Amino acid sequence: MEKKNKMSSGVFDVLKQDHRNVQHLFGRILKEHKRSDETFNEIKQELKVHMAAEEKFLYPVLENNEKVKDMILESYEEHSVGKEMMEKLEHDSKDDAHWLAKVKVLNDVIEHHIGEEEGMMFPKAKNILSKQQNEEITGLIQQEKSEASAGSAPGELE
Ligand SMILES: [Fe+2]
Ligand SMILES: [Fe+2]
Repeated sequence: MEKKNKMSSGVFDVLKQDHRNVQHLFGRILKEHKRSDETFNEIKQELKVHMAAEEKFLYPVLENNEKVKDMILESYEEHSVGKEMMEKLEHDSKDDAHWLAKVKVLNDVIEHHIGEEEGMMFPKAKNILSKQQNEEITGLIQQEKSEASAGSAPGELE
């Protein structure tokens, strides 16, 4: 029987934590009705780094596996729709009437994507990755994330 390493939470827990952070940030705008460029920039930064990490380290390891291949292809497309939406939002002022509508559509796209990852892809991927692969990818993603946060917030120590 394989013993789970309690020290490392595994790549899927790391990614799920990112999802929770993004959902919390969307909630600030959509539930607490706080329109702010700052919150949107946080969403953008969090999603950008998260998607890049998945595309760089997780999806390539899975995209040739028959069990998840189609889901991975769909994921790349959903990421790209999300990125396009974020770009559109970038050129809008939060006072523009369309801004909130676009944030809602972006949230719908991301919610759908998170639901598919956590409900279908991650559970299958968990069984595909070896313990060693999982650990390697976790390390790479954590490194990427800490480099990105160091770059985005100069002078801030985590
Ligand atoms: Fe994700
Ligand atoms: Fe994703």
